[in-house]
Amino acid sequence: MILITGVAGFIGFHTTKALLSKGIPVIGIDNINDYYDTSLKNDRLAQLKDDPNFEFHKVDLSEYEKIQDIVDGHSGLDNIIHLGAQAGVRYSLENPFAYSRSNLTGHLSILEIARKLQEKDKLKHLVYASSSSVYGGNTKQPFSVDDPVNKPVSLYASTKRANELMTQSYSHLYRIPATGLRFFTVYGPWGRPDMAYFKFTKAMYSGKSIDVYNNGDMMRDFTYIDDIVDGIFAVNDAVPSGDSEYAVGDAPHRVFNLGHNKPENLDEFVKTLERLTGCTANINYKPMQPGDVKETYADIDREKSVFGFEPKITLEDGLSRFVDWFKDYYKPNIEVQKTGT
Ligand SMILES: NC(=O)c1ccc[n+]([C@@H]2O[C@H](COP(=O)([O-])OP(=O)(O)OC[C@H]3O[C@@H](n4cnc5c(N)ncnc54)[C@H](O)[C@@H]3O)[C@@H](O)[C@H]2O)c1
Repeated sequence: MILITGVAGFIGFHTTKALLSKGIPVIGIDNINDYYDTSLKNDRLAQLKDDPNFEFHKVDLSEYEKIQDIVDGHSGLDNIIHLGAQAGVRYSLENPFAYSRSNLTGHLSILEIARKLQEKDKLKHLVYASSSSVYGGNTKQPFSVDDPVNKPVSLYASTKRANELMTQSYSHLYRIPATGLRFFTVYGPWGRPDMAYFKFTKAMYSGKSIDVYNNGDMMRDFTYIDDIVDGIFAVNDAVPSGDSEYAVGDAPHRVFNLGHNKPENLDEFVKTLERLTGCTANINYKPMQPGDVKETYADIDREKSVFGFEPKITLEDGLSRFVDWFKDYYKPNIEVQKTGT
């Protein structure tokens, strides 16, 4: 039985759906906060809640005792996939305390839960989300997990790097088998409305303009959600021990990249979206935003060799699946912005 945090979120929902389809029981927690439209979170949850192997608890990650009570009530729980967090680089400049509560205190709650399970010899593996943002302003490409990551350029990135360091301490002290995953711009159906691909699609269908930062001179290593879920599953089975290859120090803890390894230029990306939506983008070129990074590009050689990670979905195919979902879910008036009409 697996505890999934952030189960109403984009990656948590897809991971849980895939686990339930394999008949694996999931205890899901989420606080359903209103960082973005809660109806999208509730609609994701609605697809999970009728499965007899699924149980949901609305709880905040910072409420350690409540989560411990939930875990204590399930003797078969032996695995944690921790995906709940306050996401978003730009929002961390506006509401920094949301990040300390969800990402620092919240992460500590999960480490304490893991420690208690490990004390009872019941924890197989703690897998948790980090982020490509930990690479900050690094200019050496592609980003490798061996690169230094001491210069985060946003508070969000600092909290994600802090999560890796906190986990390292707990893993060292309490022998917690743990793996951190640095996700690279995950996209797909049921995605996050605060992310550029989602905002662009919405704006293009409603005839509104889109803001493209750094005058379009940005590269992102877009990674399709199904490839991420496959990666999470493969990693979850690759439980580290203290002497595993790439274990950090003597702790049973490893950190990996989950990215596509094919960065795309933002201007090209917008052209692909135009083609798929049949809309013309009305672009506002803007300067670089504080906290943003110019390019992300994942080195995934290690991930291929350790757990066979091999992203399969091209950006064109993935975006096409996203656009199909978007049309089905939002039913935009596609006549508003059709090219040539
Ligand atoms: N999507 C990406 O491109 C991406 C990239 C890098 C890292 N990540 C990380 O992956 C994880 C999942 O991201 P996502 O894209 O699914 O984001 P998401 O915002 O869709 O999901 C996060 C979920 O966590 C919940 N949550 C937030 N704070 C909480 C709290 N204090 N208590 C309980 N629940 C809380 C939210 O309600 C949300 O449903 C996060 O840790 C995120 O930082 C995502």
